[in-house]
Amino acid sequence: MSKHIFVIGASRGIGAELVRAYAQNPDHQVYAFARNIDLMEAIFHQENVHCFSLDLSENVEGQFAQMIDQLPQVDVLIENAGYLVNKPFPNLTHVDISTSYQINVIGVMESIQCLLPKMNPAGAHIVNISSMGGFQGSMKFAGLAAYSTSKAALCSFTELFAEEYKETNIKMNCLCLGAVQTEMLEQAFPGYQAPLNPIQMAEFITDFSLNAQRYLNGKIIPVSLTNP
Ligand SMILES: NC(=O)c1ccc[n+]([C@@H]2O[C@H](COP(=O)([O-])OP(=O)(O)OC[C@H]3O[C@@H](n4cnc5c(N)ncnc54)[C@H](OP(=O)(O)O)[C@@H]3O)[C@@H](O)[C@H]2O)c1
Repeated sequence: MSKHIFVIGASRGIGAELVRAYAQNPDHQVYAFARNIDLMEAIFHQENVHCFSLDLSENVEGQFAQMIDQLPQVDVLIENAGYLVNKPFPNLTHVDISTSYQINVIGVMESIQCLLPKMNPAGAHIVNISSMGGFQGSMKFAGLAAYSTSKAALCSFTELFAEEYKETNIKMNCLCLGAVQTEMLEQAFPGYQAPLNPIQMAEFITDFSLNAQRYLNGKIIPVSLTNP
């Protein structure tokens, strides 16, 4: 079935592979959002991919106001953008902490608020991409206090949104990813070799996003073979 699929954080890593995976089905229309629009326009050549510039770190509402009329109804929304700072806790600055929360939590919540009027009332699935670092009871790592606590907030938001929208056909779930070989992983764990590449993880997320809302809502799901 033809779907309108929105991927936020689409210019590289897992997000770019998500766009490629969805676009393989010519029935789908894929809407790709990130700061680096030049990169997205250079790497996505498919006719069913549409690129938009979006920076979750500032004035999210104002940016959506500029483009909302060009956007169709949303069937699937993947909140994949992420920001990671890896620093010992005493060295984290106010900017490090606030940027982590702005991009990983506040920007995500605001972008969902902006897109709510566009959600398909007959059925929409929002998938938040969190991390094993934000999953309660998982192994934790030094240096990731700002990142992992913000990802934990995204998990909590998923439960709260699902409760508030439980009488509607808008479903939200959260995937807590383990290690995937991307630039972000290299920043967090230099030299570590992940068991999965972004294409493999994108395969799982595309399938989950298109089907799981029939069975799950408000769930926080670990998707991890290993943790570094
Ligand atoms: N890789 C892993 O092992 C791993 C593990 C657990 C969770 N995750 C999560 O999975 C998601 C994807 O990770 P990844 O490894 O593929 O990361 P990545 O390679 O660093 O890509 C991050 C994406 O987010 C976008 N982004 C960053 N800041 C943004 C902003 N202010 N506004 C809009 N978009 C922004 C980037 O695009 P621009 O720079 O063009 O804006 C980029 O497309 C993240 O949420 C991450 O936390 C990854």
